[in-house]
Amino acid sequence: MEEKVCVCQEEDYGALEKAIETNRGNAGALIQVLHTAQESLGYVPRKAQEMIAEGLNVSLAEIYGVVTFYSLFSLKPKGRVQVNCCQGTACYVRGAPKVLERLQRELGISPGDTTDDREFSLEVVRCLGACGLAPVLTVNEDTHARIKADRVSALLERYRKPESN
Ligand code: FES
Repeated sequence: MEEKVCVCQEEDYGALEKAIETNRGNAGALIQVLHTAQESLGYVPRKAQEMIAEGLNVSLAEIYGVVTFYSLFSLKPKGRVQVNCCQGTACYVRGAPKVLERLQRELGISPGDTTDDREFSLEVVRCLGACGLAPVLTVNEDTHARIKADRVSALLERYRKPESN
């Protein structure tokens, strides 16, 4: 059962263990316990799925089905900085594909992925509700309007952690 776990961050299963203990054998608490895993770990790794399956007496297949059905659960760790690049029609016709291409090149990941250091996650979204400002991308809580591919590098720089000294 090889799981790629980033060594740069310790994962704390304490909250999940507690939630499982409180709901031991209670399959009806699955969503609630998955929530705890997502919130405390930032995603629902295989190890957490196995713990929940054993604790709540639910099959791994059922857990996988729930995690992949609800968008609030993630099977992959999320980065500290979440970049959402809109590829909806308005953004698309105003150059969003080039912006996305540059984001992928700068970050070295594809949409749906997270950098190995868990700093950045990249997602493609279909409309951010700001079509008049196309092309648009969001970085965490910030919305960036009329973004151009050649501004992507400088933009990402603003969200990188300062080098520790
Ligand atoms: S299509 Fe991009 S914000 Fe609507």
